Amino acid sequence: MRNLIRTLPILLLFVGLETVVLSAQTTAAPHLEKRGAATQLIVDGKPYLMLSGELHNSSSSSLEYMKPIWGKLRAMGLNSVVTPLSWELIEPKEGSFDFTLVDGLIDQARQENEKIVFLWLASWKNGLSSYEPVWVKQDARRFPRVVEHGNPVEILSPQSAATQEADAHAFAALMKHIKETDARDHTVVMMQVENEVGVLGDSRDHSEAANKAFAGAVPTQLTQYLETHRDSLYPDLKQLWDDNGDKTAGTWTEIFGDSERADEIFMAWNYARFIHAVAAAGKVEYNIPMYVNTWLAGDTTPPGEYPSGGPEPRALDVWKAAGTGLDFYAPDLYSANFEEWCRRYHRDGNPLYMPETRGGAAGAANVFYALGEEAGFGFSPFAIESEASDKDPLGESYSVIASLAPLLAEHQSKGDVHGFVLDHDRSSVDFTMNGYTLHVSLDEIFGGQAESGFGLIMADGKDAFLGAGKGFKVTFKERPETGQHVGLGAIDEGTFADGKWVPGRRLNGDENAQGASWRFDPRQERIEKVTLYRFE
Ligand code: DGJ
Repeated sequence: MRNLIRTLPILLLFVGLETVVLSAQTTAAPHLEKRGAATQLIVDGKPYLMLSGELHNSSSSSLEYMKPIWGKLRAMGLNSVVTPLSWELIEPKEGSFDFTLVDGLIDQARQENEKIVFLWLASWKNGLSSYEPVWVKQDARRFPRVVEHGNPVEILSPQSAATQEADAHAFAALMKHIKETDARDHTVVMMQVENEVGVLGDSRDHSEAANKAFAGAVPTQLTQYLETHRDSLYPDLKQLWDDNGDKTAGTWTEIFGDSERADEIFMAWNYARFIHAVAAAGKVEYNIPMYVNTWLAGDTTPPGEYPSGGPEPRALDVWKAAGTGLDFYAPDLYSANFEEWCRRYHRDGNPLYMPETRGGAAGAANVFYALGEEAGFGFSPFAIESEASDKDPLGESYSVIASLAPLLAEHQSKGDVHGFVLDHDRSSVDFTMNGYTLHVSLDEIFGGQAESGFGLIMADGKDAFLGAGKGFKVTFKERPETGQHVGLGAIDEGTFADGKWVPGRRLNGDENAQGASWRFDPRQERIEKVTLYRFE
């Protein structure tokens, strides 16, 4: 008893310390962290893969309208929702804030166990300005507009310090409020600042202030960035800079040439300065990841036909040079060339997250590529509530990926996972991992080939792999340096229950082409494990 009395305070001290350490881990705000090969979104101390969807623009402006939607999203397997929150509804009168909607949405999300990414629709949405409050809209003297062909248009000028200050003030108030209500629960995991920014209708702002700045020198902050990042600049920007003589001082046209490209870079600099400042003001109140999304340009489309100055891949370095308020840049990826666009964004320290993309069958396949091949941490088809049904193919992919999520995040950071999408135009792909060469191709049995296939494969210990998806088969090549042959030892389908592997059928015979390939038949997504053996 005396011993217990003596050791009790020491024990309590240790227990207490552990509690402090644990609670410090769990109360850290959502943040991005580089873990091995991947930059991951960390929520409550663990990597969080967002299996998400973005709502139509006006849905979340009404709590009543939202009520029946949450259940549908949950049933489809979404763990998070990306949704607008507009300046006009938060600050209808200057200086007077109303957070009823914010609180209501957070509350509804919590009841369904969903996370939220809010889209701060404020000075710009899709290049135009329609979400700022009326007191901003009607005071064009204080909040000046972009001028195109001699006329002011419905686009706030990013040159304006007054607009930046008013937007940042509202955003900071919002972030302060979110911290007060959510710093413990972490329902809100990220913020998108503005939406698809850039000038539409012309390649740049021609207001008096913009013309003056455009005739002046390029800020040294930008020229220094070009110099110090010379070797990692996006190839297109590097080429433009080289073509114009690699200058490190001069006006916008002297450094970037007398073309619309110089206009686009000038606008990128101005939007970026503005939005980094808005994000930074929000982060002072509550520091969670913040990003900007992009309306992607066609390769030959002139700036102004798409928002000129947004974080296109070729302008990304300009955005990075302009500040540190934003953590990353994201593509709104509807284009058919899905993989190429993923690569354009997943480079040079920028992680892949997709706030808008296609859902349905295309989304069900692409999510495997984005998360498996490009270490993406979030996928979010647009207009999700129109698609949401428990029969949507995206839901099937989400439920498979959700069951693998902790393992997938671990392998993203180890760098030993690959994802793929196959069809008749690209019916196979090869990977080397875990000491083997894998040949992945469209599934084929009894002479019939699958129309499409998709999935991911990760190393699962020595001589073993875990795969998920459908419509593909895998053959393994012997490692050339060993001269050995490789055989399929055993294949099991299975599921994960609370992270534990629960094996189902042993797959053999027709299910593995009599031992010739590891098959994922096209009818239904499956999770399977294979072990290999080698022979001389
Ligand atoms: C892209 C925008 O970012 C969304 O808010 C929405 O307007 C869609 N386009 C409509 O397709």
